[in-house]
This record gives sequence, structure tokens and C-alpha cells, in this order.
Amino acid sequence: MCGIVGYVGRRPCEELLLQGLEKLEYRGYDSAGISLLEDDGGVESVHAVGNLANLRAAVERTANDNGALAPAETGIAHTRWATHGKVTEENAHPHDDSSGKVHIVLNGIVENHAELRKRLIGEGENFTSETDAEVVAHLIAHHYDGDLAAATRDAYAELRGHYAFVAMHADEPNRLLGARKECPLVAGVGKGETFLASAIPAFLADTRVAVPIENGEIVEIEADGVRITDTDGTPIERAAEEVTWDAEAAEKGGYETFMLKEIHEQADAVAETITDRLPGDDGVDLSDVDLADEFLRDVGRIVIVACGTSYHAGLVGRYAIEEWARVPVEMDIASEYRYRNPVVGPGDLVIGITQSGETADTLAAMRLAREAGAKVLAVTNIMGSQATRDADAVLYTRAGLEIGVAATKTFLAQVAAMYLLGLRIAQLRGTLPAARIAELVAELKALPLKIDETLEAAAGPVRAVAEKHARREFFLYLGRHIGLPVCLEGALKLKEISYIPTDAYAAGEMKHGPIALLDESTPVVCIATESPVLEKVLSNVEEVRARGADTIAIATAGSERPGEVADATIEVAATDWILQPILAVLPLQLLAYDIAKARGLNVDQPRNLAKTVTVE
Ligand code: G6P
Repeated sequence: MCGIVGYVGRRPCEELLLQGLEKLEYRGYDSAGISLLEDDGGVESVHAVGNLANLRAAVERTANDNGALAPAETGIAHTRWATHGKVTEENAHPHDDSSGKVHIVLNGIVENHAELRKRLIGEGENFTSETDAEVVAHLIAHHYDGDLAAATRDAYAELRGHYAFVAMHADEPNRLLGARKECPLVAGVGKGETFLASAIPAFLADTRVAVPIENGEIVEIEADGVRITDTDGTPIERAAEEVTWDAEAAEKGGYETFMLKEIHEQADAVAETITDRLPGDDGVDLSDVDLADEFLRDVGRIVIVACGTSYHAGLVGRYAIEEWARVPVEMDIASEYRYRNPVVGPGDLVIGITQSGETADTLAAMRLAREAGAKVLAVTNIMGSQATRDADAVLYTRAGLEIGVAATKTFLAQVAAMYLLGLRIAQLRGTLPAARIAELVAELKALPLKIDETLEAAAGPVRAVAEKHARREFFLYLGRHIGLPVCLEGALKLKEISYIPTDAYAAGEMKHGPIALLDESTPVVCIATESPVLEKVLSNVEEVRARGADTIAIATAGSERPGEVADATIEVAATDWILQPILAVLPLQLLAYDIAKARGLNVDQPRNLAKTVTVE
């Protein structure tokens, strides 16, 4: 997650770009930068570590030192959420090529940056940052022959990954080029001025006319218009759209709540978390995580500690690590672990999962383990958070800022991170055949698209179930194996935002208690995706139906049995069965959401809950 914005027009754009960045700060805020193309062809670039107030201060300092920045009418700007390279001024965007003529801002990840960097260095280019993005500036410069559009197309053809970028050339004032591959990009068309940004809010104060850029398109903006082409330069016609959102809706990207927006940002959150860590087809690269391969290979035991939704992500991680890497994994609620005098010590790996990096119980559990001599890994979404300081190593999720109190996209990113870890350990220990690793890598890479597919396909069926059951007084969730954490998370979501009592149970254990709660008024949500335990789950569904309860099965698309057994079926895209939680949880998030909305509740700020819990 990063935010990019560019401007071409007839007004001085420094302030316009800074204001645009402020609206994109939710996409990242660890550093920022701006490059302005001055009338004389010079480019002034300012970078700052920290939030946008720091960039403003740096811009002011530059003005005091060098005289006011010349009023530029073309410029690009960026707010960063670090992926490749530490949070430093050098790594903040915009980046330029060795001649200082080409400047770019990029959101996303260039997968083949290492090989391109090597080649370009061989050709004499001089790199100044550790980022993957810088390669784009050099590559465009390398192809440049007087036409930024042609150079951008040629560069695009060589880039692999998941990104959107905007490029500017000092010799071509009043023109910016952009390209989109999966990450968002949208043009804003004003009177005599045009914007190009990651999201509409960046320019909404100046224009309500937007032209969305689609995957695989190159876009050129000038003060008086937008030209879109495909990668061969063939023009593409696209009608402009009038944006009708008010300021509050704009902050939510046009969604009615932050939670809904964040649910729809999940493909991106997973892609950002996995893409550059799966550089090829045959394995996981966790070189950004400071844990020696030998330690991971020889680790005798893994303990995962977490709270709330993060605990559920840990549970999925446990199944994946044990299944793939054959290392014993213990999972505990952090507030329990810290007070149970746990047996832990050297040779153990203790993983604290915490999206905020600040949850008091998780931090205490991590500290206790570290003091006992275990190696501690933090899995967190927040750079510089306490967890990153208390741990020996950090595996970052890259979900971007999450505002809704009920965690959604941070959960998916955590689960994805645990898959990466499980697969990496399996690779190091040789517990999976190469072909199985390759299969899982391919399936992981396919998840972002399947997340979007599933959200779209499930929306209607979920709404129908929500309408039917919105007034029920109790929901039961059942699942087995990898489906169990999914139902725990689904039940938590519903409880958190709709205030309906829920219970989530291992399906096989239902007959030892919860079955007594069932009657005709109980909706029972069952995770019935394809897996070696599907038949067992379906037997439990039958048992539930025999008590008159209403069963809702979450099933793999194309799988017939659940539909024959359950009262309602909601399908999710097919993937490897161990990876299924990433998709199976999506309808449950939507179900909780639709029911809470139907009950007229504030889903973004449910009563009594807090996003970050820094007390015991
Ligand atoms: C709070 C939040 C949850 C979160 C839990 C753990 O209860 O409302 O969404 O799962 O804390 O937070 P953490 O930041 O440690 O993941």
C-alpha cells in the first residue's frame, strides 16, 4: 500500500499535491516525497521520513535554504508504506534515474526488480535506494528516445509484478505517464488541469470528473486531457464518470463504511504481503525477516501467541505449519500464556501475531518468551510498533491502515503471512516435494484474484441469508480442521458488530454440548469447503438439520454435496484446501456486515470495543 498522485495543469501544484497526499495517507504513512518540474526544466525533489507534516516541514526548509520552490505546474508525489528497503529518506519516492531526468512514484511491487537492477547497473546506471521502485525510473530512462509514452510502454513490457506508477520527464513538461498492473490508478479531469492518483479522494476537492484506468493500460495526461492506450499503443476510449460522493464518503472510497472498504481491499492486502516474497515459482523468499535459515530449519517447536482475530490467524498458521513443515506448533491466547508459567526456552520460536503491534497481553507474552531464551518473531502490520522493538525479527503484513474496529484485511494478510512462513520452513526442512511447493506457490499467487471473485459472487447469496436471519437471537458456527478457525473468526465478526450471541465449535464436538441449543430458530453456519474432512462436516450438518435448525453451508464452487445437504449454500472460489480459509472467511465477513447494517448498527465503531488494546 502506497499512495501516488500526479498533476499537470496551469496552477502551481505543490500545495495541490500535498493535499492530495493527505487524502491518501491511509494507504501508507512512513515516509513521503514530492518532485516538482519547474519552468526551467529543473526538477526539485523533497523527501521526508515520517508523516506528511514532516514532508511539509522539509518542503519549507528547502524553500528557506534555496529560496521558495519555483512555481511548478507539473509534479508527482508519494506517501509510502515500505516494502523493499527501510524507512529512510533515500528510499522515499519519487525516485529518479542517473541523469535526474526521469522521476517516478510507484505503488505496489516490481517482482523482477533484482534482475533488472543488476542488468541496469551493468549498463552504467547508478542506483541510490534499496527500493524495487527505483528500477522503473532507470528502465524508462534506458528506453527513452524523446517520447515518454513510448519509453513507458517499453518499460512496462519488461516489468513483472503488481503495481501502478506515474512517471515524469524533465524534458517533457506538461505531461505525465502512468501505467497500471493490478494496483489502482484513476485520472481526475479538471478545467485545464488533470490528476493521476491511486484513489479519487486525492483530487476530489478539485474535480469530480474521474476516468478509471484498467489493468494493462498506459495513460498519458496533459493539462487538457487524458489519453489511454493498451500496451501496444492502441488507443482505448473510456468515458469519464461524475463522482457523486460527499467528502465523508470520499474518505471511504465511495463505500458506505470503512469496514466495507477494507473488506474490498483484501485482495490488495494479500497481494502486497505475498507478491515479492514469492519471487519465482518454486519457493518462498523471507530474506526480509531476520531469522537465520539454519534456525528455522532446526526449530524444535513453535508457539504462537495472539489475541482476538490475530489468534484466529495463528490457528490457521498452526494447521499450515504442522501440515507442511511437520514442526509441532502450540497456539495460545496471549493473556493466558503469560500467566501459565509456560515451558519455553532456547530452540523454540515464539510468534506474536498482532496487527497493531501494541496489544499489551501479546507484548507481555512475547517478552516473557524472549526472557526465557526463545527466539521471538513479531507478525505485525505497523512499522515501528512496540512489537517490532520487542522481537528478534519481524514479518510484516502489508494491509495498509485499517480503520474499522472489526479486523478484516489485517486478518487476511496475517493468514497469508503465516502461509509464507509455513511454506518457507517446509522448504528448509525438505518436508514437501518440490512439485507440491510449486503448486502451493501458484495457488498463493492466484489468491488475490480469487478473493475479488469470491467477494463479488458471494455478495448476493450472503444478502439473502442476512435478510432471512437478521433478527435471530443466536448463531452457531461449525467447522473442522482448517474450517474451525474460519468459523471462530466468522462468529467473532458477527458478535462484534451485530451484538448477536454466537458460538463457534469444532463440528465433531457439537454433540457434546451446543447441540442442546439448537431449535428451528437457530441458523447454523458450516464451513463445508472441499477437504479431507468434508464428509465428516456434512454428517454434522445432517445432525443439525435433524434438530430443525437452518443450515448455511460455505462451500467450494462446483462442489455438489453441500448443496444437497444444507438449506442454503454460499460458494467460494476453489483453491488448495489448506489455503481455503482466506476465501471461506469472506462470506462470513459479509454476513456479519449485512446483518449489522440490517439492524441499523455502527459497524465501524461497535460499542465497547477498541482497535488497539493497550491494557491487560
Ligand atoms: C482488539 C481488536 C481486534 C484485534 C485484537 C488484537 O480486540 O478490536 O480486532 O483482533 O484487539 O489486536 P492486535 O492488534 O494484537 O492484532
